Amino acid sequence: MRCIAVVVLPCAVAVVVHLWLTATPTTTSLGTTDSDEELPSYELLVGVLSARHHHDLRQAIRDTWLGYLKDHPEFQHRVGVKFIVGEHGCPIPEEDREDPYSCSLLNLTQPAMGQDEEAELEMVRVSDSGALMVSEVSSVALDFKVLHPVVITRLGVFPGGPAYLLPANVTVKLHQLDQEEAVVMARFSALSTGTKLNGVWYKPVEQFILPKGFEGTLVWESASPAGLTQINSSLFVELDTGGGVLKLGSIAEGILPHRSALGFPGLAGGFTFTIYEREALAGLLQGRAARVGLHAAGLRRQDASLRRESLEHGDMVLVDVVDTYRSVPTKLLQFYKWSVRNAGFSLLLKTDDDCYIDVDAVLMKIDHKGLRRNNSWWGNFRQSWAVDRIGKWQELEYPSPAYPAFACGSGYVVSRDLVQWLATNADKLKAYQGEDVSMGIWMAAVGPDKYQDPAWLCEKECYLDMLSSPQHTPEELRVLWATKRLCGDPCGCPWGH
Ligand SMILES: *[C@@H]1O[C@H](CO)[C@@H](O)[C@H](O)[C@H]1NC(C)=O
Ligand SMILES: *[C@@H]1O[C@H](CO)[C@@H](O)[C@H](O)[C@H]1NC(C)=O
Ligand SMILES: *[C@@H]1O[C@H](CO)[C@@H](O)[C@H](O)[C@H]1NC(C)=O
Ligand SMILES: *[C@@H]1O[C@H](CO)[C@@H](O)[C@H](O)[C@H]1NC(C)=O
Repeated sequence: MRCIAVVVLPCAVAVVVHLWLTATPTTTSLGTTDSDEELPSYELLVGVLSARHHHDLRQAIRDTWLGYLKDHPEFQHRVGVKFIVGEHGCPIPEEDREDPYSCSLLNLTQPAMGQDEEAELEMVRVSDSGALMVSEVSSVALDFKVLHPVVITRLGVFPGGPAYLLPANVTVKLHQLDQEEAVVMARFSALSTGTKLNGVWYKPVEQFILPKGFEGTLVWESASPAGLTQINSSLFVELDTGGGVLKLGSIAEGILPHRSALGFPGLAGGFTFTIYEREALAGLLQGRAARVGLHAAGLRRQDASLRRESLEHGDMVLVDVVDTYRSVPTKLLQFYKWSVRNAGFSLLLKTDDDCYIDVDAVLMKIDHKGLRRNNSWWGNFRQSWAVDRIGKWQELEYPSPAYPAFACGSGYVVSRDLVQWLATNADKLKAYQGEDVSMGIWMAAVGPDKYQDPAWLCEKECYLDMLSSPQHTPEELRVLWATKRLCGDPCGCPWGH
């Protein structure tokens, strides 16, 4: 009996399924203004980031603070509001994506079907010892990502020469990305070599199911000089990824700070693995064609309904991006580009579609606090926020352990000159994980005057004097607004709720 424990990852947790839909080539950028028309001019332009399928949240905002602004004799001229929505849905069904946050195809081929569940695959085989060479470094690392659950059964090292001996002690460890402690490890020495299979020495390890989305690093270490043997990378080496269930070396070119600590990118051995639930994998692949067809039809319906919604309300900007979580920073940059071309404004307020905004309080503060200044950024700033290397907030591009100051996304206001700078440089700005931290990194290059104001709430809370509050359902947005209209306090009236 094999003992299998489950490694639980935040990213393996099921994520709310979005009904992503394809864009038809005929989709036009609704909501953009014809360049011949005179630009509408506002004091404050509000951009509300919104996912394609969040129709109910958009409607709740239209029925509350946005509707109030539109009906207000003075504010309707002072403030313009646009929802920022991706023009394209992801054409790949949710089950067929590498992860729920992006739109990349889970590219699996039928991995050696017909074999039984227990069949072990070898990641690498050495048929010719001439391909091996003594390593000049004392630790070598290989990054990988699991795209369908696997069980690693044995870890292995390359032998030291034609005699297939081990010249020194070598340790092989499997780490979860960014975790100090190894998940499993094996030690090899001249006296304890394990068993040889196709040119690699192996030792069995405790068997864990590595779930879809698991990102790990294999590290080979030797304290002795010239203790490791690597494969000569200028020779063609075929690696077995089980038909694509493993993605090897995906992060090797990244600039993760811990990389150099773990080892130089390369291969000083291999491992054997089995594919967990092969049947399920076969089923997934067989069902793909039908799923893609259904998904495309759903996407066409969503396109049509977005077009209707945009025509009806005239408050949407469809930006040319595939609407996924990872594309939100790009969505925001596209909106900044749109805004400087299509609207006059001196301040821009960015918020999300699940946020309550006290528009009266925002406008009053602009008037009374002298916030109409260039080079200014008004928000509630997070300082020294730690960078996450796994899960939804995974950051593989920003090398420091902490982000520069960034404003919470429920609401912040930037001056037009900053928006102009972002728009001008949009094509050169790198998108990091999440739009709020990206904005912080971009702004760090400019050094705006930051006006810290805790009234832009970072968490779902309620205070009488708050300017914004995030993470609400459409119902909650309506209740907050109705309560505020009733007695001036969104959190509740003195005579009860
Ligand atoms: C899928 O992987 C195969 C090789 O395994 C490659 O030839 C093909 O281009 C990939 N397709 C996509 C869409 O990435
Ligand atoms: C190698 O490992 C063995 C135990 O496996 C140990 O006895 C020996 O001292 C080690 N050699 C070195 C050079 O560390
Ligand atoms: C790697 O292989 C190439 C081609 O056979 C050879 O020219 C080169 O010397 C090898 N490198 C090492 C370090 O053995
Ligand atoms: C803000 O900067 C713009 C140029 O970007 C300039 O025309 C304007 O006069 C500046 N406004 C203030 C209040 O300094």
